[in-house]
Formats: sequence, structure tokens, C-alpha cells
Amino acid sequence: MESALRLFPEQASTIAARVDALYFFLVAMSGFFAILIFTLVIYFAVKFRRRSEGEVGQRVHSDIRLEILWTVIPLVLVMISFTWGANLYIVMNRPPVDALEIRAVGKQWMWKFQHPGGNREINQLHVPVGFPVKIVLASEDVIHSFFVPGFRVKMDVVPGRYTTAWFEATKEGEFHLFCAEYCGTQHSGMIGRVVALKPADYQAWLSGQVAGEPAAVTGGKLFEQLGCARCHQSESRPLGPALEGLFGRRIELQSGETIVADETYMRESILNPKAKIVAGYQPIMPTFQGLISEEGLHQIIAYLKSPGGETGGIAKP
Ligand code: CUA
Repeated sequence: MESALRLFPEQASTIAARVDALYFFLVAMSGFFAILIFTLVIYFAVKFRRRSEGEVGQRVHSDIRLEILWTVIPLVLVMISFTWGANLYIVMNRPPVDALEIRAVGKQWMWKFQHPGGNREINQLHVPVGFPVKIVLASEDVIHSFFVPGFRVKMDVVPGRYTTAWFEATKEGEFHLFCAEYCGTQHSGMIGRVVALKPADYQAWLSGQVAGEPAAVTGGKLFEQLGCARCHQSESRPLGPALEGLFGRRIELQSGETIVADETYMRESILNPKAKIVAGYQPIMPTFQGLISEEGLHQIIAYLKSPGGETGGIAKP
């Protein structure tokens, strides 16, 4: 059974069986109607064929019951597909709040990952089984796509913004990781593996690695180096808004709008500070475009998100 002939990758995440069920439903429905329609076309073509040169066809009158029937049935089927699909889409787009957050950068032609405790990996991703894992994706150059067939997870990685994907592995093992968006000559080589480990093994793997610095610590250093503190942490007369506890807060803008400070907002405010000016401040911040890499941005944001220091590994088991 576990042969190379298998049509579908194994189901290795909590979402996999649900995605497959919807997929099979859609295929079965399409198959049923394709067969029904083709059979009827052939049957009617034979049954109502012209039998003699002078034959004139009968006049056909419409039947309102038939009209209703073939309007209502497709409507019901389409609504079932829609609610089912929308439901699943929402589940797949809302990572649980306690998910383990791993930050990823796609670049021509590799995947880079950083765990909360600082561990880094290239083209490999170790995750614990039975824990929701959220991947925050950024691209250093062009559009890539993070695709783990075994988890039924695929998310575009788009330059200029963050996208997120999440999954909870249900099985130990190694699973393919692909780039699923053509991104240049070595696109086909932009592959890797996801290694799902028992939580204890994952912890052991984390501690067996050269952990390096937690992302938030590197981010804190970058924050100093780039001189962010000069305006954002000045005691006397701050030129920029204070950043403590910024993440997730509601921010009032000069335009009168209110927004929630999420990662995409934080990233934008570093690269394109004039896009959204906080009410009461001047648009004087210079852009840091070209001065920080995507990984640097991940780290600064990790720093801003965790004022009280960093947790290593799984934060809340
Ligand atoms: Cu990256 Cu294709």
C-alpha cells in the first residue's frame, strides 16, 4: 500500500483529511454529472435520431417543474461546496493563538527558518508533532510558495508583505517541502523536508543544535544599531511613538483611521514609514528599505513583540 503508486501524499496533519474529503466530494460530484451528461447526450442522440428524410421534429414545451428541479439541485450542491470550502478556508487561515511561531524567508533558491529560541535551519524544518505551528513567511526577492503536500498546506510567499501558514503535524516522519511557484532557473531545486518529531525529541533536537541567538535578541541589537531608539525611546521629547507593547494594539492614525498593529503594519512602517502616520507625530522617519534584510525585519519584529525577553522552544505546552 505504501508504494510509489499511491496517488495522494499521506495525511500527516490535522487538516489533511478534511481537505481530502472536500476534494473527493468535488471530484465525485463533477464525475457524477460528467457521466450523467455524456450518457444522456449519447442516449438522446440515438433515441431521437432522424429516421427519414422528411421527418419533422416534435414541438417541445417547457415544463416548469423540470425547470425548478434543475435550478434547485445545482443551487443546493453549489451552496454545499461553498459553505464547506469557506469553512475550511477560514480554519486554514486562522492559526491558533498558542501556535509555535517559526519565521521563514524564501529566497532564490532556498528556504531559511528560524525557531523562536534562535535555532536556524536551511531547507529543513523540524517541528513537534501534536502542536500547532505557525509559519510567518517573507520573500527576499520574488514570489515563492511554501508547499508541504503531506500537511495539505500551501501558501504563497510574496515580496513586500507577510503571509502565514499553519499546521499541526499528526505523525512523526519526514515530509516533502516544495516551492510551488516558478521562481527562476533553480525553482525545481528549491526543495527541502519537514521533520516532524515527538515533542520530547523536538526539544532534544533544539538543545542539540547550536541555538544561536534568539531572534528577539538579534532584533534588539539591530534596533540599537539602526538608531531606532533615538526617536522611539527618547525620555524627554520622543520624535516617534513608543513601541513597547505595540504588537496587537489599536493605533490611531493621522488620517483618522484606526488600525491594529500587526506584523505587516510593523514591517511597512519600517520600510515605508510615510504610509501610515500615527496621530500626533510628524512624517519624519526615514525609510530603512535596503538597510535591513527580510531576516533582519523578522528579528526586529520578534524583538518588538517580546519586550520581556524570549522563550526558547515551545512556549506553552
Ligand atoms: Cu521558489 Cu519556486
